[in-house]
Parts: sequence; C-alpha cells; structure tokens
Amino acid sequence: MIAIDGPAASGKSSTARAVAAALGFRQADSGALYRAATAARLRVAGAPESWTEDSVLDAARVVSVRPAAGVFEALIDGEVADAELRGAPVTAQVSRVAAMPGVRAWVNERMRECAAMGPIVVDGRDMGTVVFPGATLKVWLVASTAERARRRSAELLGRMPSEEEHVLEAAQLEARDARDSRQSQPAADAVRIDTTLLTPEEQAARIVALARQRL
Ligand code: CDP
Ligand code: CDP
Repeated sequence: MIAIDGPAASGKSSTARAVAAALGFRQADSGALYRAATAARLRVAGAPESWTEDSVLDAARVVSVRPAAGVFEALIDGEVADAELRGAPVTAQVSRVAAMPGVRAWVNERMRECAAMGPIVVDGRDMGTVVFPGATLKVWLVASTAERARRRSAELLGRMPSEEEHVLEAAQLEARDARDSRQSQPAADAVRIDTTLLTPEEQAARIVALARQRL
C-alpha cells in the first residue's frame, strides 16, 4: 500500500497511476469519489448552499467503483463520467461536499474496499493520515502554486494558458486548498517531494524507487 497525498494539481493522480503501473498495483483516487458524489448531487435539483449531508449521500447511491486494468474507476450510473468529474461546476462545489463527515466516511469505506482487493496506490489528501495510517510508503507531493496552475490549466484547456487564465486558475487552486486545509495535512512519516522542477517521469521514478526499498 502506497499513499500519495498533497494539494490540488500537485500531480497525485497521474503519479499514482504511473507508480501503480510500474509496480503492477492498481490505483484508486479518493478525489474522484468526492467529485463523483458532488456530480451525482449536482444532477439532482437544488442550490448547493442548501445541500444536506443526507441529500448528498442519497444522490451518491448511483456512484460505484469498478476495478479495471491498473485502476479503480469511479462510475455514475454505471458509466465513466470523467469530463463531468473534472469540470468547473464539480470543482466549485467539491470542497463543500468533502467537508461533510458522512461523505468522508462513505469515501473512506469505498477506498478500504478497493484496498481489500489487492496491492494498491491510493491518492488524495488524507490517505496517509486518516484512511491508511499503516501504509508502507507515504508521499506528500507539493509544487509551487504557479506551476500547479500552469499544469491544471494546460490539462483543462489542452494548450498553454494565457496570463489571465493562469492567474485565475492559481487563485482558484489557492481558494480550494484553503477550503480543504482541515483534511489536507502531511502524515508525520510522509516523504515530501517537491515536483515543481521535476518531470512526471522523474517524480514517478523517485516514488517507485522508494517503494521498492520498502516493499
Ligand atoms: O485533482 P485535485 O487535486 O484538483 O482534486 P481531487 O484530488 O480530485 O480532489 C477534489 C476534492 O476532493 C478536493 O478539493 C477535496 O475537497 C476533496 N478531497 C478530500 O477532501 N480528501 C481526499 N482524500 C481527496 C479529495
Ligand atoms: O491529482 P492531482 O490533482 O494532484 O494532479 P494530476 O491531475 O495528477 O496532475 C496535474 C497535471 O500535472 C497532469 O496533467 C500531469 O501530467 C501534470 N504534471 C505533473 O503531474 N508533474 C509534472 N512534473 C509535470 C506535469
């Protein structure tokens, strides 16, 4: 079990997937489950300010997790909905949903079910602290806000962002980090890796090397 946590767009999911592929593990992204619960609730009517925990958990009954090659997929109504999960409406509301204790318990239970199915790389904010405190290796990934905003905008836009788009994305990432701060702390025994100046391949290779030392 390898746990990779860190702030928004620090490279957790793509790195976790690469590390899982190198080790022959599966990857499970807890953020995708918070996003799927949020997306499922958004499909039901009602202003987000008035969402209750019960209404989110009720909506989330259509969310499931399916083991696939190298990854656990989060599904809504049995279907992959990645564009919806990554879209702006979900990103704007996901921290509100993630602050609900019952939703956290629901996600944690799904993650433990995934972990019971075999060797796994999990990623999120509190995998190494709350959900899997006994993980063999815990990594806390960080990168400068400017670099994280560049990466996330490039991913969402499919091109380099303009100066204006970059500044807006950076502000949104920092606002989300602030809203997520309660459940987003490194474990005392986590290895901190700053990826600002690393390539995706370099950061994955470092974690694979650390994992091989410990496994
Ligand atoms: O990819 P990015 O880092 O932008 O976000 P994510 O990992 O997809 O997570 C989306 C949201 O879910 C975060 O902004 C948190 O509000 C919440 N989350 C959480 O509270 N705890 C986790 N373990 C993972 C995600
Ligand atoms: O899961 P999280 O939000 O932490 O990040 P991600 O979605 O895995 O990564 C955000 C984007 O940064 C992806 O498009 C990565 O390919 C890219 N990236 C990276 O993770 N590390 C680098 N050194 C350079 C780019």
